[in-house]
Amino acid sequence: MGSQWGQDKTYFRAKHEGYRSRAAYKLMEIQTKFGIIRRDDNIVDLGAAPGSWLQIERTLTDARIIGIDLNPIAELEGIETIEGNINDPEVVALVKSQLDVVSIVLCDAAPKLSGHRCYDQARIMDLNQQELRFACKVLKPGGNFVVKSFQGTDFPEFYAECKKNFYAVKTCMTKSTRKGSTELYIVAKNFIGPVVP
Ligand SMILES: C[S@@+](CC[C@H](N)C(=O)[O-])C[C@H]1O[C@@H](n2cnc3c(N)ncnc32)[C@H](O)[C@@H]1O
Repeated sequence: MGSQWGQDKTYFRAKHEGYRSRAAYKLMEIQTKFGIIRRDDNIVDLGAAPGSWLQIERTLTDARIIGIDLNPIAELEGIETIEGNINDPEVVALVKSQLDVVSIVLCDAAPKLSGHRCYDQARIMDLNQQELRFACKVLKPGGNFVVKSFQGTDFPEFYAECKKNFYAVKTCMTKSTRKGSTELYIVAKNFIGPVVP
């Protein structure tokens, strides 16, 4: 069975099961493997549109969930949303004002790709750095962080930076990722805490 057929199956499965995108299965797999979310965890989801991860998160926690995206996120019951850039300090401030405790930061964000490999890789790494900074600003010590990244020359440096901030860091390639993609997730557990200058 070819990979194209496999992709179609995941796409149609997501439609059939009422998920907003096939990405839903990636978070399910990460949760099954790593148990990152518990029932009382407040979650902040970066790059959350159209919202399939938010749908899964709603089934995993009874606490609050905030989804953030450059694009509007169509209403989902029990989910708060912010339309904005994760790099905007006002967005960080808004999250802090809305949640006393953030236990989990999840990021499936991806920049628009140009097709120029070096340029795209640099933009992905830049976004990853912004996501890590965001997580370190809002997470409680002991909190968990999951971030989508891509294998490339700068990846080891970013991975090492995650290891400086979390006690347990692993990578995960999900089954629903398109064949041939260099996409992978970093699963970083147990935030060490903000570095005191
Ligand atoms: C692959 S989609 C996320 C899919 C989502 N996890 C789901 O399950 O529906 C990537 C999203 O990242 C968002 N994004 C990219 N850069 C961003 C940024 N700087 N700030 C906020 N959102 C961003 C895009 O607008 C896009 O909606």
